[in-house]
Amino acid sequence: MSSSDRILNAAVLGATGTVGQRFIVLLARHPMFRIHSLGASERSAGKVYTDATKWKMSDIMPEEVKAMVVKPCDPAHYAGCDVVFSGLDAAVAGDIEKAFFEAEFAVFSNAKNYRMVEDVPLCVPVVNTDHYQLVAHQRKSLNLQKGFIVTNSNCSTSGLVVPLKALQDKFGAISRVIVTTLQSISGAGYPGVASLDILDNIVPLISGEEPKMEAEVKKILGGINSDLSACAPLTDMRVSATCNRVAVIDGHTECVSVEFAGKPPSVEEVKQCLREYTCEAQELGCFSAPKHVIHVTDEPDRPQPRLDRNNGEGMSVTVGRIRECPVFHIKFTLLVHNTVLGAAGASILNAEYAAKKGFV
Ligand SMILES: NC(=O)c1ccc[n+]([C@@H]2O[C@H](COP(=O)([O-])OP(=O)(O)OC[C@H]3O[C@@H](n4cnc5c(N)ncnc54)[C@H](OP(=O)(O)O)[C@@H]3O)[C@@H](O)[C@H]2O)c1
Repeated sequence: MSSSDRILNAAVLGATGTVGQRFIVLLARHPMFRIHSLGASERSAGKVYTDATKWKMSDIMPEEVKAMVVKPCDPAHYAGCDVVFSGLDAAVAGDIEKAFFEAEFAVFSNAKNYRMVEDVPLCVPVVNTDHYQLVAHQRKSLNLQKGFIVTNSNCSTSGLVVPLKALQDKFGAISRVIVTTLQSISGAGYPGVASLDILDNIVPLISGEEPKMEAEVKKILGGINSDLSACAPLTDMRVSATCNRVAVIDGHTECVSVEFAGKPPSVEEVKQCLREYTCEAQELGCFSAPKHVIHVTDEPDRPQPRLDRNNGEGMSVTVGRIRECPVFHIKFTLLVHNTVLGAAGASILNAEYAAKKGFV
């Protein structure tokens, strides 16, 4: 029996946070995973989950977690877990996630700490599951039998790479990308940006976000080297990101201009390419893979976060306003749900893929 045919025990680290709560909502209705353990800081450890958490999801808190006692994030407490999902704060994720993969757990992380390590897959699971080929080298270099770490990207990167991947596959190399983001406040975790800073306002700085986006896009859309030991990020693509925080609860909007290295496609060809895009996770029948990876809208004033963020249960990227760009070739507006495809949903689909392929 392969892992994908049995129920897998899942731990959520950072279970009290914004991403952790999204994990709990998605895992509670998942046919393949059972929530086994919840971990958070010493502030929360020892408390039952309802007392440890300020629940901020619009879904009600699943019954099975209410009385679970939150554990410290030490692998010794997680015997019996098959997969470990991490929604840990980056300030602590490095050491804690390392302790877990070194203790032979399969770790699926949302934190930035290991994203750019050359034999760690930085995997948006509707884009680059081929990067799982790095896991064998990672295990070998760390002398691990079962343990490994796979990360997913920064939330704004996860939306951008999806249409870029479709366009790159169909029309060849992309030479330049300019992206301006309008990012929701849940992207900053809880309590995030103070209400007096964000209401009636736009904050034109998300510290550290722009270089992360610019680097992660090139790793995700790049390949891996011939001996499968390291990623090979794109070197010819130039990416410029400008990131803004706006008064939206969930859903990052991004205005994108793209220049192709070769002959540019027409607007109609771009629309068709995005509508037809499919990925390996869909072909494998993974539960969380959306029916349409990219939802293309012809409505002139869409996508909008309040109306479109839940397309494909939050796992689709919605792309609209596709038109010619007078400076580059094509421009469009996209929307991604930052805590679903941008975080917990991507990790869960990564784990489904890993189970289907025998990594777990
Ligand atoms: N929000 C998004 O849209 C998004 C998207 C993609 C990636 N990410 C990344 O995902 C991670 C979590 O983000 P978030 O927005 O969910 O943050 P958050 O709401 O601030 O939650 C942080 C979590 O980390 C736990 N934590 C903090 N210090 C700890 C410690 N010393 N030991 C163990 N646990 C500790 C917290 O537990 P306590 O409650 O006990 O303090 C909480 O559960 C970050 O690395 C972030 O960059 C977030």
